[in-house]
Amino acid sequence: MENKNVQNTDTERRKRVFSAIKPTGNPTLGNYLGAMQYWPQMADEYDCLYAVADLHAITVAIEPKELRENSKRLFALLIAMGIDPEKNILFMQSHVGAHSELCWLLNNYTMFGEASRMTQFKDKSKKAPDNINVGLFDYPVLMAADILLYQADVVPVGDDQLQHVELCRTIANRFNNRYSPTFTVPVGKTPKYGARIFSLSDPTAKMGKSDGAGDGSVFLLDPPEVIMRKFKRAVTDCDTKVKASKDKAGITNLLTIYAALNNTTVESAEREFENADYATFKARVGEAAVERLRPIRERYEALRRDEGALCEIMNAGAEKAARIAKRTLDKVYKKIGFVRI
Ligand code: TYM
Repeated sequence: MENKNVQNTDTERRKRVFSAIKPTGNPTLGNYLGAMQYWPQMADEYDCLYAVADLHAITVAIEPKELRENSKRLFALLIAMGIDPEKNILFMQSHVGAHSELCWLLNNYTMFGEASRMTQFKDKSKKAPDNINVGLFDYPVLMAADILLYQADVVPVGDDQLQHVELCRTIANRFNNRYSPTFTVPVGKTPKYGARIFSLSDPTAKMGKSDGAGDGSVFLLDPPEVIMRKFKRAVTDCDTKVKASKDKAGITNLLTIYAALNNTTVESAEREFENADYATFKARVGEAAVERLRPIRERYEALRRDEGALCEIMNAGAEKAARIAKRTLDKVYKKIGFVRI
């Protein structure tokens, strides 16, 4: 009888996680609750790779200075929120050339119709009709390259990225069927609460990084008084009950934020605020966010004081990632039929 405990070295490796965040605008509480907050703890169970997806950031117009600053800020922030560079591979996407290389190869296994159906492409095209560039169209294929290069099993993301992970699975399956098993086919993983956090000023719109002056987005590096102000001004309704329901988008969003921050359920949050008025409830959600973000901001500020150390971490991460990526890329070139030297 087959001994299930005897495994070859390939199956012995721990499952892999890959995820990334794009350095456009300012990282928000939505990014944090939908994805980032789960990343540090995943190292207990998986081998994890996390990247600042700077190549993805140029699909929208961005100034060189802003791209540079945003990328460094995000890299430091990922460490500040708990990603230990000794236990995870943390790197800048553009530092590993294999991402762009594999993206080109995968373009040839992605159908025009499939990429055209991506809702983010359609939304972003509507928002910036003067800059519907080919990079924006190709964006999900680059994402597929990010994931497939590392043979990731699990991709922890918010709701809005699930369609891209689905496309990645389609591309991987197509390639595996055309040649032979090459890529691990990954699954997207979203949290029960927080997979889609909405704007505090318009609870029907996603909380986004680019809500500059408005009070709709809570930014991870906002000072406590700004966070409190944004929560106190959060749009609700003219009812008085702290209860989640379809016609109470603002309150539902706040309950979701509270549940995701406290690792509890919306039902238990509802019970906790059964007798509270809206002002008290909003202030309590704000305080929970302030307390969660305070140590992150403090660690972040300390990290930014030593740019040299950050560069070393970037270098080490890129080296480790490039080694894994090269193995996959070599395999892909060979399978397609390229002459290798
Ligand atoms: P990005 O930078 O838009 O967002 C980073 C992560 O945050 C999640 N997210 C949200 N979750 C809940 N509520 C929100 N309002 C909210 N806004 C954003 C996103 O779902 C995401 O998980 N293309 C990706 C980055 C990327 C990537 C990858 C992700 C590049 N390569 C490979 C996974 C795997 C992006 O722009 O995410």
